[in-house]
Amino acid sequence: MRAVTWHGRDDVRVDTVPDPTIQDPTDVIVEITSTGICGSDLHLIDVLTPFMTVGDVMGHEPMGVVREVGPGVTELKAGDRVVVPFNISCGTCWMCNQGLQSQCETTQNREQGFGASLFGYTKLYGQVPGGQAEYLRVPFGNTLPIKVPDGPADDRFFYLSDVLPTAWQGVQYAAVPPGGSVLVLGLGPIGDMATRVAKHLGAGQVMAADTVPERVARARANGIDVLDRTAQADVVAWVRDKTDGRGPDAVIDAVGMEAHGSPAAKLAQKATAIVPDAIMEKVMQVVGVDRMAALNTAIAAVRRGGTISLSGVYGGATDPMPLMTMFDKQIQLRMGQANVWRWVPDILPLLEDEDFLGVDSFATHHVPLEQAPEAYETFRQKQDGAVKVLLKP
Ligand SMILES: NC(=O)c1ccc[n+]([C@@H]2O[C@H](COP(=O)([O-])OP(=O)(O)OC[C@H]3O[C@@H](n4cnc5c(N)ncnc54)[C@H](O)[C@@H]3O)[C@@H](O)[C@H]2O)c1
Ligand SMILES: [Zn+2]
Ligand SMILES: [Zn+2]
Repeated sequence: MRAVTWHGRDDVRVDTVPDPTIQDPTDVIVEITSTGICGSDLHLIDVLTPFMTVGDVMGHEPMGVVREVGPGVTELKAGDRVVVPFNISCGTCWMCNQGLQSQCETTQNREQGFGASLFGYTKLYGQVPGGQAEYLRVPFGNTLPIKVPDGPADDRFFYLSDVLPTAWQGVQYAAVPPGGSVLVLGLGPIGDMATRVAKHLGAGQVMAADTVPERVARARANGIDVLDRTAQADVVAWVRDKTDGRGPDAVIDAVGMEAHGSPAAKLAQKATAIVPDAIMEKVMQVVGVDRMAALNTAIAAVRRGGTISLSGVYGGATDPMPLMTMFDKQIQLRMGQANVWRWVPDILPLLEDEDFLGVDSFATHHVPLEQAPEAYETFRQKQDGAVKVLLKP
């Protein structure tokens, strides 16, 4: 089959690789019809390159049609339409039963000290072949795939794999009081969707900051109050002005570790290109690098006693955090990979009739899988108005 494979920094290709096969009795093979490129995939061709291996199949936002089921699969049959969550979670362990699917105890990567495996996401998360491919082997066929109705185009259900539960969890973790205020940093797919979910769930005042003109315009067209700057001083002054001088009740960081405004991040990114992987693996896990511009803005902007919710992904173990300020402002901080299945029962009904969240028109680009290298580049460079790119195998 054809699949998007990792070859190095800023280097993905479309290669022919072996078709996946049923390996465990509860496996299913899904023929992929739509598969997304995520902001998290950009980390893999940038700061997380030391954790990748040439030939790894990328992608963790797949949906499609079940073509083959293992002998132990009772809940799905060939022909069923499914969305595949990015967490590989069993659905039956203690963590899954708490709604913490990103910490699934059946797929946790204990040797690496990391949580549940993810499709297409580094040695730290199981090195499982991803979903930017014609076919995908999906384990836990009775509990993991999300069965969705036939009828509407893929775009209606597609975002259940990652963007919707991530944005939903980001808003839930932000604990915005009814009618309260929230600032969303970053208007990529995650931040944009978080503004929509926050409005839907009853936030009174939704503000956002980013600098990419198309992203700013798109959120404004949705009624979001957007500052088209990201410098900390500007953002903090702007939100205070709009919140009686206090700052918003909550801030959602939908940026992550490649925030612009982090000078040392650029150094770390350059270093991953020239320092041997074995060394950079350690460096990226344990050494502090200041690539926390967005998080620092969140800490400065949130009101005293407010909540910060991190959807953006961070690396490093000793990034300096302004702990004194966080303590003094009595900030609450929540974060983590989205627990996809935790939120599916809340979100799926919203997709069944009216398009409340605007998912049908959320993608800016639909391109053939064969054009993945160009599509990655367009998304990475934020060119051509690219906010969300769906690949079509
Ligand atoms: N927690 C999860 O489960 C989960 C799931 C998906 C994605 N993510 C993470 O969420 C983050 C966003 O993902 P995305 O797909 O929307 O990515 P993206 O790269 O398209 O979006 C990031 C946006 O942040 C903006 N930005 C950069 N620096 C900024 C700053 N200092 N202040 C405000 N905005 C700034 C950029 O211009 C860009 O529009 C990434 O870190 C990604 O890894 C997490
Ligand atoms: Zn993702
Ligand atoms: Zn589990």
